[in-house]
Amino acid sequence: MRLVQKAHDFISCSITKGSTVIDMTCGNGIDTLYLSNSVKKSGKVFAFDKQDEAILRTRKMLEESKSSENVELIKACHSQIDKHLPLEIKGLIGAITINLGYLPNGDHSVITTASTTITAIEIAYEWMQVGAKMTIIVYRGHYGGDKEAMAVKNLLTIKEWQVTKCTGHEKPDSPILYMVTKR
Ligand SMILES: C[S@@+](CC[C@H](N)C(=O)[O-])C[C@H]1O[C@@H](n2cnc3c(N)ncnc32)[C@H](O)[C@@H]1O
Repeated sequence: MRLVQKAHDFISCSITKGSTVIDMTCGNGIDTLYLSNSVKKSGKVFAFDKQDEAILRTRKMLEESKSSENVELIKACHSQIDKHLPLEIKGLIGAITINLGYLPNGDHSVITTASTTITAIEIAYEWMQVGAKMTIIVYRGHYGGDKEAMAVKNLLTIKEWQVTKCTGHEKPDSPILYMVTKR
């Protein structure tokens, strides 16, 4: 099973109709669309990406699937979510997806980087409710990916969070899925 599918399966049990959830890197919109369909019309998805092209692609995907009404697309770095989310939902987020790396079929020079990724993960955890799920998919095959992967691994080792890990294959550069449950 693909890691993205595994990630969706993992978070599905912490999402109900009406949940508020976050996609920290909306990219082509696959995760955002999944979240939008999962929380239904009464729910809310906040989807971040720092790239115009990703915001455009995600909006297009949502509109084509008639799923855009419960999604707010935010063009910003995900380390800045505190500046963009309403304070009254802090501690109430049901699920968070973080799919790192570059935009597939896009500009491969725009990548997530260790320092902002670590800040984003730490802040995102604070916004989650107890029992909420967060998935982090880390790619190691591109320039800078290994450094980012090491930083994520170190962070998750230091924190006393409930985390399970899954790799696509056992190759040194295969992607890693981390599945976090908020205690
Ligand atoms: C692998 S793609 C995400 C795939 C996406 N979740 C999907 O379902 O299609 C990674 C995305 O991270 C975005 N990105 C890179 N640095 C970022 C940052 N600091 N804040 C937010 N998004 C960032 C890139 O623009 C790219 O679209």
